[in-house]
Amino acid sequence: MQHVPTINVASDDLPRAPGNDLAHLPGPRGHWYFGNLRDLLPDPTPFLLQMRAEHGDCFTVGVLRNRRVVVLAGPAANRLVLLDTDGNFSNRLGWEVALDFFSGFVLLRDFEDHAFHRNLLRPFFKPDALGRDLVCMNRVIRNEVADLGGSADAYRLTKRMALDIGLAVFGGFASAQGHETIYANTVRMLDGAMARRSRMPASRFRRALRARDRMRAILLAEVPKRRHGDGHDLFSRLSRFTDASGRQLCDGDVVNHVFGMLFAAHETTASAMALMMYSLARHREWQAQARAEIVTRNLGEAPTLEELSSMPVVEAVFRETLRLYAPIQFLPRRNVRPFEWSGQHVPANSHVTLPPQLCHRDPTLFEDPHSFRPARFLDGPTHRPVDPFAWVPFGKGSHMCMGTHFAQLEVKALFVRLLRLFDLELPTTSEPALQHLPLLRPARTLPIDFVRRRPQCGED
Ligand code: HEM
Repeated sequence: MQHVPTINVASDDLPRAPGNDLAHLPGPRGHWYFGNLRDLLPDPTPFLLQMRAEHGDCFTVGVLRNRRVVVLAGPAANRLVLLDTDGNFSNRLGWEVALDFFSGFVLLRDFEDHAFHRNLLRPFFKPDALGRDLVCMNRVIRNEVADLGGSADAYRLTKRMALDIGLAVFGGFASAQGHETIYANTVRMLDGAMARRSRMPASRFRRALRARDRMRAILLAEVPKRRHGDGHDLFSRLSRFTDASGRQLCDGDVVNHVFGMLFAAHETTASAMALMMYSLARHREWQAQARAEIVTRNLGEAPTLEELSSMPVVEAVFRETLRLYAPIQFLPRRNVRPFEWSGQHVPANSHVTLPPQLCHRDPTLFEDPHSFRPARFLDGPTHRPVDPFAWVPFGKGSHMCMGTHFAQLEVKALFVRLLRLFDLELPTTSEPALQHLPLLRPARTLPIDFVRRRPQCGED
């Protein structure tokens, strides 16, 4: 059987290391070794907002060994880079630094090669597929929520849920039972994929590498079986894929996409769901409005795709949570050719990054930007349309998140169940400790009190 050939693209010709000829660009000088990491690591947003105020919409900051990274700010910069109509910004070389673990995944492909693989994955996110995924989401959520009560770590709960859903819909491993090795290795692989690149055998990164190798061997051995099966999960469907000339995807690429999808869907969604629980527990008036929306629609235990299609309040709360706590704080790229921006010349092969927070926290784009105000995303007299490139927690353009609807569905299915059964309360008034890099997420546990509700009039 022939395989789909690799498509060569412009970014293949760039040197492996990014260029660093950026001394002409404005920006803080940075420590000779740590660059500006000491300002960026605790919470990059205040530092970057300050740098933007001082240096404008195109400046550099230093990372390890004070290698300079070009920061572009504002909706116009987002439009330039994310739409990338000239095919100038390489995702692969931008993301490779943090995500070499998942090379071959669609996020780490460029231009024509990327378009081919994105098209291949597209059917998996169509309504018929999402309808099937929802059945699985409802089952997992029902099981997880059944045992809830009292104080629990919201982040631990959402991580477990996102993992169970991911392994079922992407891998076809419907439950941990019977797939213990797969579940254990996936947890380890995802846990250490973005950890510090340590050579120590017992480090998180090394353990994650070993887990990935074990998983790869298991999945590669299973591809032939999947090619002849009739499963609807991503792994089975990609294994069965043939193009118009009858060529298949090679086994390695099938596994690359399954791994990548598990990663893309896991920590991002778990972090967003946990921080949405926190936001609703903190802003009880919005919790009441979200619950009222669910009760009015009379949504039961297993809501359908159609029933979940329009929930403006829950959607606005989700959007506002992502505005304040975008899980992906940097969208990295490398430019194939030089370009000019904001009066500055950026040479070819520079490391370029877009921090969504620079728009999300900009008072000219979002009034009172540090406050939680979901009403800004609701139609109404105070509604001001947001520039489509100002709100970018899912990115935009050619690499825009393929799982946007999937994530939204998971969130709605979870909160329908949760808000009917529980009042969400905060056991403490303190802000949650957050880790901002490599992804934004609760730094430790995120305790929430799940107080069981008595059904009110009109509820079951
Ligand atoms: C709240 C949850 C999520 C957030 C905030 C999020 C965020 C993002 C962002 C910002 C990107 C674009 C990165 C870039 O332009 O460099 C992206 C890409 C992607 N995401 Fe998500 N994501 C989420 C959930 C999911 C889920 C649930 C899935 C799968 C079901 C998924 C699959 C993907 C894929 C496949 C890409 C790569 C698209 C491409 O390169 O063409 N994501 N995501």
